[in-house]
Amino acid sequence: MEVLGGIQSYQLVAIAAGLTLLRYVYTVLSSPLAKVPGPWYTKWTIAVFRYQLIRGKRPQWVHRLHEKYGPIVRVSPIEVSIQDPKAAQQIYSVKNEFRKSTWYQDLLPGLPNVFSTLDIDYHRRHRRLLASEISDSGLAVHIPTVDSKVRLTVERMSEEMEERGVIDVYRWAMYMATDVIGELSFGSSFRMLETKEETDYIRDLKLIGFAGGLRATFPFLTFLSNYIWVPVISVGLKVRNKIRDYATESLGRHYKLVEEQGDDAKPTLLSKLYRATENDTDTLPFIELREDAMAYIAAGSDTTTNTLTYLLWSVSRDPEVKAKLLAEIQTLPDNFEDADVRKLSYVEKVIQETLRLYSAVPAGLPRIVPAEGATLAGYFIPGGYTVSVQAYSMHRNPEVFPDPWKFNPSRWDHPTKAMKDSFLPFGGGSRICIGLHLAKMELRLMTARFFTRFPNARPSKLEGFTDEDMGPKMFFIMQPKSQRCLIEGY
Ligand code: HEM
Repeated sequence: MEVLGGIQSYQLVAIAAGLTLLRYVYTVLSSPLAKVPGPWYTKWTIAVFRYQLIRGKRPQWVHRLHEKYGPIVRVSPIEVSIQDPKAAQQIYSVKNEFRKSTWYQDLLPGLPNVFSTLDIDYHRRHRRLLASEISDSGLAVHIPTVDSKVRLTVERMSEEMEERGVIDVYRWAMYMATDVIGELSFGSSFRMLETKEETDYIRDLKLIGFAGGLRATFPFLTFLSNYIWVPVISVGLKVRNKIRDYATESLGRHYKLVEEQGDDAKPTLLSKLYRATENDTDTLPFIELREDAMAYIAAGSDTTTNTLTYLLWSVSRDPEVKAKLLAEIQTLPDNFEDADVRKLSYVEKVIQETLRLYSAVPAGLPRIVPAEGATLAGYFIPGGYTVSVQAYSMHRNPEVFPDPWKFNPSRWDHPTKAMKDSFLPFGGGSRICIGLHLAKMELRLMTARFFTRFPNARPSKLEGFTDEDMGPKMFFIMQPKSQRCLIEGY
């Protein structure tokens, strides 16, 4: 059919399509991120980024790009990754100018919590209610509880060593970390160390990383799985809903304890939040409390489990490091406490080095550039684009950490400014990990108690266990890919 001056309608369609394509090409090529170094395909598509994410290999992929392209690299049409200490300090500043990106809503869809919220006021209000109880001084009252869990863990490990000839330190680290965060937040836990059984709770916690990877990679399909069963994808939402159920159940246990014990009930990490839900002036809806309870359950267990597992494995397999650590631990008094372990400088360096080489959160923490834009690592990035810094690359920068792949606690004898500025295992700025003092307490006590009991610990070859098992899987949280770590030797 002729439409205009001899032009056929199909020709009009072709012209429109051509113009749209040209406009798209122009938009991509003139995008400010087009000037940032990076592979050609990241100008056009986010698909490769998402593909690496769902494979659990995003940090390694981004790191290879940094090795090839330098300290700033485009990883998708809207995001750059940065491996530069100065820029990292600028992005993760306490002033909170670089807000969390909407990626966090994809990771944790539904109602926000202290970890996932993008809203600065919401975050401040919740962080204020949580901060003092989990600060270094606020935790003092909980040291005996944490230590008793650590002791019980070592007991359980001894039993396993007797019965099986090896200890699966991953399993016990997970039971310990979940019992600690449960007991401290709700006054009672799921008592994993007592029951010793791999419950649904533990099975779901083990899936958190993969489930988060699914949600962040396929946000639309995740949304759809609210209404219809989408093969595989539905797991992402199912795990999240189950963690919500565990939080509700734990809060129920807490209220029952308070009813039974009245004023004698132990203080908890959530005490101020509990009070705020009952208080007229600082009223907090129950669902906001429940969402933060979920955040504590999820953020407080997997991260510590994996860090502790890599610490025990790294020391056990390195005779030189182990000898140094044992020499220091042997100076502890018989009935040592946390205060004694705190004074041990090599224990601290072993923890630092584990957090460097085996950061439980290795991937980029995405932030939005403020409206006025920012110059980062020599490039101007306009407002609204996403920037992220990943601990995995910051901690492997050979200019800052010579011989970066080597587990060498002594590198922390005299840390340089660049080392301190590059060290981001707990993130930074106003969104820095709220649980870092608790995590460090667990790691400290466990390091001292484990190697006091098992000075000859070494990785086992039983049951086909090899270094391969410890190869990392990295969704948002890094974990050994076979989710086991076998150690032997008294
Ligand atoms: C070795 C163990 C741990 C590591 C490596 C770790 C790492 C991190 C990192 C990197 C962040 C920042 C995430 C971001 O900016 O996107 C974070 C935030 C957070 N972590 Fe941890 N974490 C650990 C243990 C814990 C524990 C024991 C808790 C217990 C409550 C916890 C609770 C949280 C919470 C609630 C946030 C959000 C803080 C906010 O946005 O204000 N973490 N953690």
